[in-house]
Amino acid sequence: MHIGCHLKLFVIFTIILLLNTIKPSFSGNPKAAASAAIALDCGATSEGKDGDGRKWDIDTKYLPPSQGDSQTIKATFQDPSLPSEIPYMTARVSNSDMSYKFPIDSKSRYFLRLHFYPTNYNSFNISNSYFSVTVAGFTLLNNFSAAITAEALTQAYIIKEYSIAPLDDGVDSLEVVFKPSNKHPGSFSFINGIELVPTPNFFDSASLVGFSDQTLDGKTSTVETIARLNVGGNYIPPTNDSGLLRTWYDDTPYIFGAAAGVTSADNETVGLVYQGMPKYIAPYDVYDTWRSMGPDPNITLNFNLTWAFSVDPAFTYIIRLHFCEHIYSKVNQRLFNIFIYNQTATPSGADVIAWTGAKDVPIYKDYAVNVQGKEGQQELLVGLHPRDGVEKPEFYDALLNGLEMFKVSDGNKNLAGPNPTLSEALAKVVKEKREDFSKDKPNINAIGAASGVAAAFGLATVFAVVLYKKKSKMPRSKSGTTSWLPLYGNSQTTGMKSTIGGSSVASAQLSTEAAANCRHFTLAEIRRATKNFDESHVIGVGGFGKVYKGVIDGSFKVAIKKSNPSSEQGVNEFVTEIEMLSKLRHKHLVSLIGYCEEDGEMALVYDFMAHGTLREHLYKGNKINLTWKQRLEMLIGAAKGLHYLHTGSKYTIIHRDVKTTNILLDENWVAKISDFGLSKTGPETTNQNHVSTVVKGSFGYLDPEYFRRQQLTEKSDVYSFGVVLFEILCARPALNPSLPKEQVSLADWARSSVRKGNIDDIIDPHIKGTIKPECLKKFVDTAFKCLSDHGIDRPSMSDLLWNLEFSLQLQESGDGEKAATNNGRNNAVSDNINMHLNTLNLEEDEDEGDDEYSAATTLSSNEENSSTAIFSQIVHQTGR
Ligand SMILES: *[C@@H]1O[C@H](CO)[C@@H](O)[C@H](O)[C@H]1NC(C)=O
Ligand SMILES: *[C@@H]1O[C@H](CO)[C@@H](O)[C@H](O)[C@H]1NC(C)=O
Ligand SMILES: *[C@@H]1O[C@H](CO)[C@@H](O)[C@H](O)[C@H]1NC(C)=O
Ligand SMILES: *[C@@H]1O[C@H](CO)[C@@H](O)[C@H](O)[C@H]1NC(C)=O
Ligand SMILES: *[C@@H]1O[C@H](CO)[C@@H](O)[C@H](O)[C@H]1NC(C)=O
Ligand SMILES: *[C@@H]1O[C@H](CO)[C@@H](O)[C@H](O)[C@H]1NC(C)=O
Ligand SMILES: *[C@@H]1O[C@H](CO)[C@@H](O)[C@H](O)[C@H]1NC(C)=O
Repeated sequence: MHIGCHLKLFVIFTIILLLNTIKPSFSGNPKAAASAAIALDCGATSEGKDGDGRKWDIDTKYLPPSQGDSQTIKATFQDPSLPSEIPYMTARVSNSDMSYKFPIDSKSRYFLRLHFYPTNYNSFNISNSYFSVTVAGFTLLNNFSAAITAEALTQAYIIKEYSIAPLDDGVDSLEVVFKPSNKHPGSFSFINGIELVPTPNFFDSASLVGFSDQTLDGKTSTVETIARLNVGGNYIPPTNDSGLLRTWYDDTPYIFGAAAGVTSADNETVGLVYQGMPKYIAPYDVYDTWRSMGPDPNITLNFNLTWAFSVDPAFTYIIRLHFCEHIYSKVNQRLFNIFIYNQTATPSGADVIAWTGAKDVPIYKDYAVNVQGKEGQQELLVGLHPRDGVEKPEFYDALLNGLEMFKVSDGNKNLAGPNPTLSEALAKVVKEKREDFSKDKPNINAIGAASGVAAAFGLATVFAVVLYKKKSKMPRSKSGTTSWLPLYGNSQTTGMKSTIGGSSVASAQLSTEAAANCRHFTLAEIRRATKNFDESHVIGVGGFGKVYKGVIDGSFKVAIKKSNPSSEQGVNEFVTEIEMLSKLRHKHLVSLIGYCEEDGEMALVYDFMAHGTLREHLYKGNKINLTWKQRLEMLIGAAKGLHYLHTGSKYTIIHRDVKTTNILLDENWVAKISDFGLSKTGPETTNQNHVSTVVKGSFGYLDPEYFRRQQLTEKSDVYSFGVVLFEILCARPALNPSLPKEQVSLADWARSSVRKGNIDDIIDPHIKGTIKPECLKKFVDTAFKCLSDHGIDRPSMSDLLWNLEFSLQLQESGDGEKAATNNGRNNAVSDNINMHLNTLNLEEDEDEGDDEYSAATTLSSNEENSSTAIFSQIVHQTGR
């Protein structure tokens, strides 16, 4: 009976599986939808997983058998900005028509995603590739050159996303046809990845902007995705979407002009309250973060908060705006106008509470607009402005949580536009970048930082906007730095009440953001929090001064960094850190809560990191044996933080002092990067791709190239992080003067051990047996590359991050039994950790911890230093 039962279950299960592969359709359950999705790694010979851990299948089962002459080819060059090898490194290439045939339910809507990585595939010269893609009578692409498109967008790869309306024709298959152009001799088509995801029919009618009472029927519209932005929030990978495997991007590259408003995230524990809206519409994160205009009506009434998109003319676009009010709960508190394509989209104003009736309720609104014109790209602006009419709202502010934009197929069932052309501004930069390449300089460019964030859906001139913004905004930010913050020696600003911000109209653009994100504390509040800077509250000492733990607002734990008022360096770092941190918000960066500047005392207030520094869990303080997996996870977190610094914000930010004491752990053991006192914003102009500066940083972690040339690049952080990788693996300090000479510097010793093939000898004995050999190899290879003498040979932070995640996968993949014991051990360890929590010694050792000197100081004072040998060894890095 038991067996029969199992058999029956098995049969049912198999049928379900078969049904899924035969006819993916949306069943209402996003998890099921995601698993019913098809993802093909075209041209691959075996299935595999991408960087997010998603599985990609081989493509042969969806290729009708008759196609003789398509070829499967592996790319030889892997661009470092590819998010993962799969699906981009293999392609199916053909000189003649080729097609894929997918089983579908003609009553369902589908996402079709096409992934292209334009590079040379064997003898196929990518410059000759022009082709069309059609599906169910719709022309998705025509005369499409992936190479030209990628160049115009300064991206290595392109993702095209279409949402195909239910065909309702009873036909149960969907054919995707790739046809090389007959206008270009030697033309061929290629494809790297295809996704087909069944979705609910998530469109309804959209109100047509500029025509009262007219709507566009979204339900039957087949569209192409132009943009999908998590406004005021971070990038959301497909695996974190609400079941439809969509990617949500950061909105900053699309912000028009210099006024970016203020970003916020919900700080309350109350979740979202759904009122009839399906949860798949957008993931939680989208509604939990937003961008508003700021608190000061003298500023908000003077600008439009605007996003710019460059689009093909003569098409209709659907713009979906996502809102969720978390702060106000009454009607007419936040009332604003929405402008789309310079027309008012909401004649009676937008008031989220009036729409939802309560706060914390997510809602979205769809608008449609016809974009005029014949040729070239048009700018489509979406703007917000406080409403200042007879209504007189309580606050002159506006907000937006998410934005999606779709291009609607025209009367000829066409979605294709011309290949984008490189804007003049961009063309110039690309040329300079090429010249830099040929001069063998480290390859860093301003554009890369922006395009890395925006990626995918592809809007050419938007990047030019970003570029102009970079150029025009930089000088302003510099003057802003000194004017907005009442600094050292200026005692006019000693208010007794703590206020949000302290902005002046003169520094409007930058300061609203910094000030509104950053609370101003009075000295009295700081004294209360730290029991008047009681020594028992000291948790660390850095170059800047002592760090105290404290409690504000009754119970909120914070870390307070007090400056040493006598040091000039202190003043600079104080300003730098507020400037940096108030603009940066990321899960893996320590959050700045506020600052205090009063009577010559300066203090910075941060989130308290319950578990202190990473170093103290390796070989300092109460030693707890972190498992290899925990260590890898912490490194991945820290790498994400650094990657965000390098590419995630408006400017490339170089940390300059990456080390294990600057990687902090919160109560959940999440690693966060701290200490931006030495940070520098990266390349400001495009013909200068490094920042010349006095050599600063910590010995043992110092990039030899930076030392030699006094030029700072992102790769300097990669070098330091490479030292951190070995520090984690070997559980020993970056410098240990008590060891034999050849072992003093960890970087040198690890490199020579790797070269000699005896890295095993220097691994932390506590974890040595638990690291899988393939994981170790990947990890060590990666760390070794980070320590390359020349920055150009080191991986980028995104490459590094990818390799670490891959190492973690290698460690985790394997037989279930081992995994089970591993989990058991992890639990034991975390219990152990919890037990130690209260007795943890958070104090940093002052002996060798914070050797932050300028090079000149150290060199002149190294006679007095007991470890002269170390310094001379470091100074003569070139001789290695
Ligand atoms: C590919 O074709 C372009 C234009 O036809 C040509 O300029 C280029 O040299 C070719 N590249 C190779 C590698 O043959
Ligand atoms: C995605 O979700 C997982 C699990 O909830 C989380 O750990 C991870 O940080 C998320 N990733 C991003 C980029 O938000
Ligand atoms: C959340 O933030 C708002 C202002 O941003 C503040 O007034 C409120 O007290 C905060 N709530 C909590 C629970 O921290
Ligand atoms: C706005 O400007 C007016 C006139 O200059 C001034 O009286 C008022 O205090 C300002 N409001 C704020 C919040 O700064
Ligand atoms: C905001 O945008 C609208 C529509 O484009 C425009 O009419 C208005 O002048 C703008 N306001 C400001 C302050 O820029
Ligand atoms: C919309 O307004 C902006 C700025 O005022 C202007 O540059 C743009 O040309 C306008 N667009 C249209 C379609 O009128
Ligand atoms: C195809 O695209 C190329 C590059 O954008 C363009 O030069 C050419 O005129 C186009 N050909 C046709 C037939 O549209």
